[in-house]
Amino acid sequence: MIPGYLFYRMGEYSVGNLPPKMPTTTLHPDIQEVLFDADVLRARIKELAASLSQDYQGKDPVLVGVLKGSALFLADLVREMTIPCTIDFVSMASYEGESSTGEVRLLLDLRSNPHGKHVVIVEDIVDTGLSLSSLMENIKAKRPASVEICVLLDKKETRKIPVSTKYVGFEIPNKFVIGYGLDYNEKYRQLPYVGILKDSAI
Ligand code: IMP
Repeated sequence: MIPGYLFYRMGEYSVGNLPPKMPTTTLHPDIQEVLFDADVLRARIKELAASLSQDYQGKDPVLVGVLKGSALFLADLVREMTIPCTIDFVSMASYEGESSTGEVRLLLDLRSNPHGKHVVIVEDIVDTGLSLSSLMENIKAKRPASVEICVLLDKKETRKIPVSTKYVGFEIPNKFVIGYGLDYNEKYRQLPYVGILKDSAI
């Protein structure tokens, strides 16, 4: 059986036969509340891309996505940017299920050398700040020309280590959120909105 939240059937549309708009997504049954729907996300990401395009004009920045959570955000962000840029990825682990282990491990390092480059770290969410401050230190040690952080969601009240987030999509309260790249035990990343999980799903 095809779950209700998978949105459209493969092969239904071909070039020249595209629907005017994708069918509306059914709310996933495990979601208690949608915080930011696809339209709201798209509009804010467009604004972030405009700020980055203006600030990094002539600087050919490297956008470093933190896997896996930032994959969807980075993909949408770069497609709204109007200046040349490159992308690279790192992978870090600090979460098991719903809570931070407090320990940050770098699972995958940059493929490119950031030395002398303008680096923008693109992350899905900042919570305690441990992951991003550790990544900042790691990248700064490689002597980039500059390094800034662009984060979609900022849980300001749960910060343990201060991190300077120059570009922030939305500030959110201390709730566990999923969707649009964010997961709970690897689930829900493909949802096109950011929402709060029902207690029964945890
Ligand atoms: P920090 O090191 O505590 O700032 O946590 C950063 C990482 O924890 C993020 O990249 C996410 O992978 C994960 N994380 C923090 N809060 C949430 C949440 O509400 N939902 C899903 N993942 C989260």
